[in-house]
Parts: sequence; structure tokens; C-alpha cells
Amino acid sequence: MQEHYRPGLEDVIAAETQISHLDVEREEIIVRGYSLLELIRAASYVDVVGLLIDGHLPDAQRRQHLEQELVQAPVPQAIYEIVAALPPTMHAMDRLRTAISALAGFDPEATTADPERERAKAPRLIGQIAQIVANLMNLASAKPPAPFESGRPFAENFLRVMVGREVTAKEVRAFEQALIAYSEHELPNSTFAARVVASTLSDVYGALTAAVASLKGPLHGGATEAVIAMLQEAQTPEGLEGLIRARLARKERIMGFGHRVYMRRTDPRAQLLKEILRDLGSELLPLCERGEAVMRTEKGLYPNLDYYAAPLYSTLGIPQQLYTPIFFAARSAGLLAHIIEQHRENRLYRPRARYIGPRGLTL
Ligand SMILES: CC(C)(COP(=O)(O)OP(=O)(O)OC[C@H]1O[C@@H](n2cnc3c(N)ncnc32)[C@H](O)[C@@H]1OP(=O)(O)O)[C@@H](O)C(=O)NCCC(=O)NCCS
Repeated sequence: MQEHYRPGLEDVIAAETQISHLDVEREEIIVRGYSLLELIRAASYVDVVGLLIDGHLPDAQRRQHLEQELVQAPVPQAIYEIVAALPPTMHAMDRLRTAISALAGFDPEATTADPERERAKAPRLIGQIAQIVANLMNLASAKPPAPFESGRPFAENFLRVMVGREVTAKEVRAFEQALIAYSEHELPNSTFAARVVASTLSDVYGALTAAVASLKGPLHGGATEAVIAMLQEAQTPEGLEGLIRARLARKERIMGFGHRVYMRRTDPRAQLLKEILRDLGSELLPLCERGEAVMRTEKGLYPNLDYYAAPLYSTLGIPQQLYTPIFFAARSAGLLAHIIEQHRENRLYRPRARYIGPRGLTL
């Protein structure tokens, strides 16, 4: 057997996909043939759910149906009770992981690996996940969960429940654009984890549960929380410059910078989110720009999406604990598309390891 070993599977093609592609040379992200940046600018999150799950953009009738499915997805009361029973100090991603795992118990078809059955239930799952995420803070403080209202669009419901007040159209659009930016991104660790689990013909609940666990890590989705903590500690552009320089001097990583695929290049999604932050008149923008400039000169590194999503969520007044769960809720559409694709053309993932331990020991 010829050995091909790439630590961290860097640059290894591990799947064929029709879902998305990162064209690093052209600074383009393609989602089912469309530019993700164009989708962020001009589409709705519901459109993107249709595109990811059905393989094409929805017509008016399908769009209306999808929106209804997302908003009216029933979350069993028992799920809220399970989450409410967990210690409020438990990390929001751990509570979300528990909820997604428990959802399987309320789906009579939970164990199916039939791609068509999975496609049929995908919008319901995306809606359930969004409602659970939106209510995580309510549940942690013993408040009753606030249901999504059928007269309101999905993104408005999602934001409104998280911030606990009426929201403006501008705020909703900014939030919706972040949801689209996060909806799909080829084969990051969490999507790979979901596909690895799905490849055993395990079901969507198992695959999504693995993906939440992966996404929680600070090298992946957890970076948004670290970014906001850094911005809060810094307080001013000068404070952030000093903080970054001190951390770099200690050889620490600066969260929100660098990316396995875009390393030393721009993440096109981050630049777009920065413009949205500017449009909202966010006070955090000057800080972020200073941090970006310092990192470019000191390390030649560029911000990733999480660097600008954190201040965006903060400007909208979203509780910090929900930043990473929102990433998961938005990405659930992409994850489900990948799980379905894996089940359509399945090949069990079973790589090999290079043994570097001892041999020939005797008892
Ligand atoms: C995302 C990430 C894990 C990708 O890492 P990777 O592909 O494994 O890259 P490496 O760890 O090999 O890093 C390459 C070099 O860049 C440096 N580097 C990468 N990201 C860095 C960061 N955020 N801060 C400081 N230095 C960083 C590494 O120290 C390394 O430097 P060296 O060559 O002098 O040793 C990494 O950039 C990171 O830790 N970023 C911060 C966490 C984050 O924002 N995650 C969200 C990603 S969307």
C-alpha cells in the first residue's frame, strides 16, 4: 500500500460534492452554481435553504411552503423541558447538542438513511434547530420558550426571540445576511464529521450531533465567542492593538484570524460582513479595523467570517452565548445537504493510520 499522509488532511480531497466549492484563486465561494456573495447580497435565507436542500432555488410557491415549514416546525415540549433541566452554566453548544440528539426520540422516522425521506424532513429540522437556539437563553433562565409566530418571516422570528424585543427591517436583513454567509462552506471539520457519521448509514440526528460537537471548538465555530471577549477586553482601537501585540509576543493565536483554506488570503465573507457592520453604524468597526491592520502587518493574516460576525451580533444585541449556536443553526441547511448527498452516493469513510509506536514488546 502506498502511503499518503497529510496531517489534518490538509488539501486532501475527501469527497465529491455538487453543493459548494471554495475557489480560492478567484476569491469566490460557489453554492450550487451561484456565488455565495451574491446570495448574501440579494437572496433570502429561505431561498438558500431551498437551494441547498432541493438543489435549485425555490419558485414562489415552494418559497412560501418552505418559510411556513421553517417557522411552524413543531418543537416537542419535552425537548424544551430536557434543555431547561440542564444546568444553566452548561455551555450553550452542549445544551444544543443534547437537544438535537433528543429530537430523534420524537421522529418516528429518526433512523432512516433514505435521502428522499431526509430531504422531506430537512426544513422541519432546520426550523426546530433555529427555535431551540433562539430559546436557549430563555430556557437557561427558567423563562417559557417563545414560539415563532406564523405571520412573521423566519429571520425576523429568529432575531426577535433572541433579543426579546421588536426588531427593525434593517436589523433583520443584517442578521439574515449573516445566516446566509454561514449557511454552507464546503468541507470544514463539522461538515466532514457529519459526513463521516452519515457514511456508516447512521441518521441525520447522529450526524448533526457530531457536527455540533465539532463546531463548538475554538478553532472552528467557537472563535466568535473568543472574538467578542477580546473586543470587550480591548475597549478601544489602541487597546486592541496593544492586546494583539502582547498576545502575539506570547506566541498566542488571535481568534478570528486565519483559515485552513484561505490562510494568508481574504475570506470574502468577512469583507462583506464588515460592510454590513459599517452600514449598521457599529461602534465596534473602528476597533475591528485596527485589529485587522495590525494582524496584516504583523502576521500577514486576514480576518475570517467569525471576526466580523461577533461584532455584528453584538451590535444587534444578541446574547454572547448564542453566537456559536447561531452558526450551527445557519449551517444546519448546508449540513443536511451534505448528509443527504452522502447517503445518495455512499462510501464508508475508513482511512488508515501510520503506526509510529513500538513493535515486538513481550509480556
Ligand atoms: C483556523 C486555523 C485553525 C487554521 O489553522 P491551520 O490551517 O492549522 O494553520 P497553522 O496552524 O498551520 O498556521 C499557519 C501559521 O499561521 C499562524 N497562525 C494561524 N492562525 C493564526 C492566528 N489566528 N493567530 C496567530 N497566528 C496564526 C500559525 O501560528 C502558523 O505560524 P508559523 O508558520 O509561524 O508556525 C488557525 O488559523 C486558527 O487557529 N485561527 C484562529 C481560530 C479561528 O479564528 N477559527 C475560525 C476559523 S473559520
